[in-house]
Amino acid sequence: MVDRRNFICHASQWALAGAGLLGASRLRGQAAFSSLAAAPAAAPPLPPSGPITGPGSLRAHAAARGLLYGSAVDIGLLRNDAAYRQLLIDQCGIVVAENAMKWAAVHTAADRYDFSQADELVAFAEQHGIKVRGHNLCWHEALPGWFASTVTQQNAAHYLTDHIRTVAGRYKGRLRSWDVVNEAISPGDGKPDGLRDSAWYRLLGPGYIELAFRTARAADPHALLTYNDYGIEYDHPASFIKRAAVLALLRRLKAAGVPIDAVGVQSHLDATTSGLGPGISEFVAAASALGLKVFITELDVNDDNLAPGQPAALDAAVAGVYGEYVTAMVAKPAVTDVLTWGLSDNHTWLNSTKTHKQKYPGREERALPFDDAYQPTAAFYALLDALGSHPVPGHIS
Ligand code: XIL
Repeated sequence: MVDRRNFICHASQWALAGAGLLGASRLRGQAAFSSLAAAPAAAPPLPPSGPITGPGSLRAHAAARGLLYGSAVDIGLLRNDAAYRQLLIDQCGIVVAENAMKWAAVHTAADRYDFSQADELVAFAEQHGIKVRGHNLCWHEALPGWFASTVTQQNAAHYLTDHIRTVAGRYKGRLRSWDVVNEAISPGDGKPDGLRDSAWYRLLGPGYIELAFRTARAADPHALLTYNDYGIEYDHPASFIKRAAVLALLRRLKAAGVPIDAVGVQSHLDATTSGLGPGISEFVAAASALGLKVFITELDVNDDNLAPGQPAALDAAVAGVYGEYVTAMVAKPAVTDVLTWGLSDNHTWLNSTKTHKQKYPGREERALPFDDAYQPTAAFYALLDALGSHPVPGHIS
């Protein structure tokens, strides 16, 4: 698996980020991205007093601005942890399955599907008036064990379309959005147009992307069909090249009349913030000009590149990135949905990535808006504040 957090960073900047960027989170729009160098050493804002549920929740703050806030959901926790379940209800206007809708979870044998986990998530969400996004219908990872020995160039189109018809068809009319194709760009693979050298590419060539989107539209005409990718948020050379390839893909799809409604910017960010620049804002503007919505789909902020420090300093740095990034992103009307990849630091996937385990074995990431006790972190307050930057108050339909 590609390490998506291999951004070049300058550890010496962490203190600056921690000290200054919470102040920067108060800035609005473009200005926030250029504020790093000039950020004055301001004290982090004090957490507002009062409850964080009801009107004080992320869900309500987002809704008041016409945004959706939500999180990826771990089905095991949903089943077994009542406090986690309540946190989802209190804070989320939208949820997405962290793993339960991936091929490996639902397509258990070549001719068999298992929707027990996915159904449970959708039922939970519907019971609590929470919207659902589907993740995902076509990806190079999370393919089931039977896939490699069964799927060939001759039958791959059948398997892809059957899967999409069956899975998207099952939830027809009930999901807000679907990640139809996930992570199809990887310029380093050396394929034309920066396409990833994935199983799908090798089996079907570049046409698999269009096939997936057209099949998804027919299966569920109501879901917002989304292309989702990572590593496009920064202004590092690699990120710049990848972002250009993603934009070119979106332009080709639109030009060919392929049904696509949105682009998902995963937003697995780094607490050093070095390298964040105007590029992602320009990308949002370009996607918007194509008529696409933009979703922040998997936001978290890893602290692997920060020097070990006091927890409060790490938290301030992470919160600074939340504030800076979300403020600048939601300042664009095209950005309507903001999802974190999990809610609490003890359950983030980042704790089990190779980089993290090698570098800081035993140290938990502080990447999400809630701590292990499901209490709000500095990132929660930075996010709450940043959601207020969206210029279009009102309702999401
Ligand atoms: C991750 C999950 O969080 C992990 O639990 C799982 O082991 C691997 O996948 N980009 C994506 C998500 O699109 O599906 C990934 O989720 C994280 C990166």
